[in-house]
This record gives sequence, structure tokens and C-alpha cells, in this order.
Amino acid sequence: MAKTQRRILATSALPYANGSIHLGHLVEYIQTDLWVRFQKMRGHKAYYVCADDAHGTPIMLHAQQQGIPPEELIEQVGEEHRRDFAGFSIEFDNYYTTHSLENRELANLIYQRNRDRGHITTRTITQAYDPQKNMFLPDRFIKGECPRCAAADQYGDSCEVCGATYSPTDLKNAYSVLSGSKPIERESLHYFFELGAFETSLREWTSGGALQQEVIHKLAEWFDAGLRQWDISRDSPYFGFEIPDAPGKYFYVWLDAPIGYMASFKDLCNRNGIDFDEYWGRDSTAELYHFIGKDIVYFHTLFWPAMLEGAGFRKPTAVFAHGFLTVNGQKMSKSRGTFIKARTYLDHLDPEYLRYYFAAKLGNHIDDIDLNLDDFTQRVNADLVGKVVNIASRCAGFIKKRFAGQLAATCSEPELYSDFAAARQTIAAHYEAREFGHAIREIMALADRANQYIDVKKPWVLAKETSREDELQAVCSVGLNLFRVLMTYLKPVLPSMAEKAEAFLNIAPLAWHHVVEPLTAHRIHAFKPLMRRIERDKVEAMVKDSKQTTSDQSAIPSGDNATNTQLSKDPISATIDYNDFAKVDLRVARIVKADHVEGADKLLRLTLDLGGETRNVFAGIKSAYTPDSLEGRLTIMVANLAPRKMRFGLSEGMVLAAGPGDDDLWVLSPDTGAQPGMRVK
Ligand code: 2FM
Ligand code: ZN
Repeated sequence: MAKTQRRILATSALPYANGSIHLGHLVEYIQTDLWVRFQKMRGHKAYYVCADDAHGTPIMLHAQQQGIPPEELIEQVGEEHRRDFAGFSIEFDNYYTTHSLENRELANLIYQRNRDRGHITTRTITQAYDPQKNMFLPDRFIKGECPRCAAADQYGDSCEVCGATYSPTDLKNAYSVLSGSKPIERESLHYFFELGAFETSLREWTSGGALQQEVIHKLAEWFDAGLRQWDISRDSPYFGFEIPDAPGKYFYVWLDAPIGYMASFKDLCNRNGIDFDEYWGRDSTAELYHFIGKDIVYFHTLFWPAMLEGAGFRKPTAVFAHGFLTVNGQKMSKSRGTFIKARTYLDHLDPEYLRYYFAAKLGNHIDDIDLNLDDFTQRVNADLVGKVVNIASRCAGFIKKRFAGQLAATCSEPELYSDFAAARQTIAAHYEAREFGHAIREIMALADRANQYIDVKKPWVLAKETSREDELQAVCSVGLNLFRVLMTYLKPVLPSMAEKAEAFLNIAPLAWHHVVEPLTAHRIHAFKPLMRRIERDKVEAMVKDSKQTTSDQSAIPSGDNATNTQLSKDPISATIDYNDFAKVDLRVARIVKADHVEGADKLLRLTLDLGGETRNVFAGIKSAYTPDSLEGRLTIMVANLAPRKMRFGLSEGMVLAAGPGDDDLWVLSPDTGAQPGMRVK
């Protein structure tokens, strides 16, 4: 038991109940799970709760599309989510739904308390309305021509081509993505949460150690821009909770979603006799942590703590934001087969491979992490099979066969063992700080030492000399003890492998402090392989299956904060004569630098070398490429396109890319040998 037992409540963001869990989601659930498992192993009282995010327009429309009530859809998806999470050993203490009685009551309470303290106001606003579907249209459900650059099929809030932001009423030839009809304008009374009233306390909370540096910087910008009131109501038809004193008005899904954290915990409390207020009461001394993706920071660091404060609840101890997942250096892509669903992965590969690989790559910053499938195969095989399992397999046979499974009565390498045991402090500090990659590095350095020890002692040589029986038992017992320490440190990451190791070593479930003493004069069981190597063809089969299983497309955006990517076939354009074509000056260019563009969802800023001349070009390829993966490569650009002034700066040309959609794009490259500046003929 730890000296002081901490009380910890951790959450992961609630996945929408209208889509499958994929590897991108798992970056978050795996890191939260292994952090909480670590806390539990240390003897702390830790709970991990989550739920499906069940409300909102997209879920209502998906259910309609399938001809079932939304309750049925969220039930089905909820079951699928639970199965997928269980498949990856994500051990929630409770997995609930936001469409629950507890959530309704808590949402009402939080709303009423805020209202009674004057934090809710109402005002009539004008919004786009679909006269055919008889419903108001969220911005993402309207498309049309960009008012600035006239690009077709742009969403109601921003243009992906020129980066302009506007309101849906500014779009030209606007249409509803649901019915294709022209939206009309209609007035409606909306309810607003007065975020600005919380500025002082939010500034205090955000600078009080609850947030990462990158998040603090982002918040500084938001504070400077001014905290605006937040529209928390939606009109019927809507799948959600009706606002208690406003018939026909519903809470916007993002109001009751984070309250779902509380509701899931409340359900757990009700069933297990835990004191809810000890964790959520204003004066709670328990620790409360939210693990989230970097795209939902605003909701969790401004709206959520403000709502909690306005309702007399405690604020989170910290919010831990992480980056997105790329696969093979690029955004996950359906047509490349790298948009991999949890279930598809499980059909082919052991979940612990992915838990390990993610752990090895994760830190406590908000950088994106890359799953490079070759590196994944090679690293898991080298580290887990080649190093860790190898230690046990090199020693276990001798102990079993020659000593009837009996370990030596004393540890013959007390110094080596105590070095291994002492490493628990550093490794624990890395886990605690969510520097999982650092923890793995330390553990693998120890695994190398254990293997070196066995290499030097050569038990297979000792085994041939009958006079050295004691030495053989001593060496193999040390090897197995070092293995046991390593498995203890890896247990938060590899719970199934640790369980198999516990069975083989014939020991009680490993806790962190068990490493202090070695196992001596103890009988172990027969060794069974703890983990198989990853076979490359299994990885290939998974990618192939992902191409097949994710071709379904829906016109309904998947979430209220998500973007929609639709595939469309482009017909060949009308012919042009050669003289027109000859006017286009296509050149080979080298991408010397690629950067994200603050505030642009789709654009990357590219610095191009045209063989001496440098150009600045904004390219709408952010969804398909990470900046790192582009730097250094050659491409083709339109060099004589008139410079265009964009919101983010001047764009001096255009890079050529091919593909059906935003995240399915391929930047064109010349063959090797081409040089920057060469003209394309
Ligand atoms: O972005 C999303 O997928 C949301 N469903 C996350 C909600 S997290 C919490 F606030 F509920
Ligand atoms: Zn535009």
C-alpha cells in the first residue's frame, strides 16, 4: 500500500454513439487506461469512467436514415463500443451513456443553478432552416459557394480552399446537405451561457497548474479575443434533453456531454456505495483528471470549468490534452486502408502490440503521434519478443527441467537485482508525469542489461557441466527475477501478458512494491509463450480489410464538432486547346519547409525551392500530410499562377495533388533525377 492513498477520478472523452471506435480514438483510451492501471498498482484508489456521447443532430439523423429510433441506435453502438474497448483491455470502472436519468438530473441541476445565479440569458437569433426537413441546420449541414473565392461545395462556416470564415448566410447558392433544398432564414429564441462572467476565476484556474504549456498559450489567445456567450440550446427536432423551463428547446449536446463524466461516476457511486460528493463537491480534495484530444480543449478548459463553478461543483485538477494519430506519416485514410477500426485491428493482431507501441511513443505534450506500420512490427518484435520474453524463455526451461521448477534459495546477484528494483522510482515518476515513452525506454534499458547478464553467464554452457548445477540454478533464478521486475513495470501497458507471466511464475497479481524483494525458494510453473511475433502479412491483411470495410459514406457529418469528408467522382473537364495549356508553367520544386497555419483547418504553408527562387504557397493538404513527411521531397507546382492574397498571407503558386477527398490526396512528385526549377513539358 502506498504511504498516502490518493483518491483519483480519471476520464477519457466520450465517443459519439454513431460511429465505430478506430485507432485514432485508442490513443486516448489506451493512455488513460495505462495511467489509471499504474495508479491502482501503486495502491491508490483510482476510478476510470467514460460513456457514450449519445445526443445531437447527427445521431438523430443517422437513426432516421436507418429507420430506427435513436434510442435503438445508441444502444447498438454502445454495445459495439464496449466490446471494442474490452478487446483492447480498456478497463473502465464504469462505461455509461449520456442518455441516462443521472445525466438528465445533473444537466438540469447544473443548468438551474447557473440560471438562478444569472448566468443564463436568452435572445432571438436568425438561423438557416431546411423547409423540406423542417429543421434548423447546423453550419456543417449547409454547403454552397465561398463568398470570397467562389469555390464550390464549401461548408457554412469556412472555406477549405481560401481559408475564409463567414456565416452560412454569406454562402452563394447555399443548399442543405440533408435535402438539397435552399435554406431559408428563420428566427428562434436561444439560451446562452454567459462565459464572460467567469473570466477572473478561469484565468486563475488555468494558470494554477491544471494545464499544459501549449494549452495555456492557446488560452491566452482566447482570453485576448474575449470570452463570448455560448449558445446552449437547440430547437426541436433534436435528440437530447429538453430544457426544464423551455418546452421545445433542448440542451446542445456539448452541454450535457461533459456532465456525462459526472453521471457515469454517479451511477458507479449508486451501485458501489461511493460518496459522489467526495469527488465532485466544491471542497473535494480528491483528484479529477480529464484526458482529451487537442480539438476539444475549448470545451474542457473554458465552458466546462465555468459551468461547474456556476453550479457549485469543484473544477478539474488537470486536463491532459494529446495530439492526433497519423499512420505512416499521414492522416488516417480510408482509401489507403489506414483508417483502421478497432474491430478490424482485433481481427488480425494482438491488442497488446498496439498498447505497447502507443506507450513507447506517448509523452505529455500535444504533438501528434505516428503509427508507422513497419516500425510498429519491428519494434514490438525486437522489444517485447526479442528482449523481454526472451529473458524468461532462456531461463525457465532449465529451472523447470533440472530443478523441478524450484528457484534458488537466495539471490546470487543482490546488486544487480537492487538496481532493477531501484529503477521503480524513476519509472514511476515517468508514468505519473504521463511520459510513457520515457518509462518504456528505461524498462528496455533494463531488459538489455538482463539479457547481457544471461549472455555473460551462459546458462546453456553451465547446463553441460554437472558440477555447476548450483550456478545454473542461481543464474536462471536471477534471470527470472529480473524478468519479474520488468513485467511489473510493464503491467500497466501489457495487462494480459502480465497475467500470463503471473500464472507462469505462480505468483499473486503483481503490485508495484512487490519488486522490492526477489522471489526465492519458490516453485514456478511451466513456461508457455507469452507473446508471438507480429507477422507482416497480418498487418498487410489488416490494411487490406480496412480498405474494404470503410467505404461507406454518409452525407451526415459524424459529430457536432467534426468535419465531413465525402468522396466524389470528378468528371473529365471540357477540352482546352494547346495554347491555353502551354500558358501553364509547371515546375519541379523542392518542399524545403512545411508548417501548420494557425487558424486554418486544411492548409499547410509550404516553402518551395524552385532552383534558386523561393516561393511561399498555401496548400489544402493538411488532412493528408504531416509537415514532417513533406519536408525535403520534390513536387510539381504551377509557377506562373497570379499570387493570391489569403487571410494567412500571400500564396505564390499552387502545388499539384490528386485524389478524391480532403484526407485522400496524393501530392505529385517527379521521378528521381528531376531537379528543382526544371520545367514540366
Ligand atoms: O469530440 C467528441 O468526440 C465528443 N463526443 C467528446 C465529448 S467529451 C465530453 F465532454 F463529453
Ligand atoms: Zn474560398
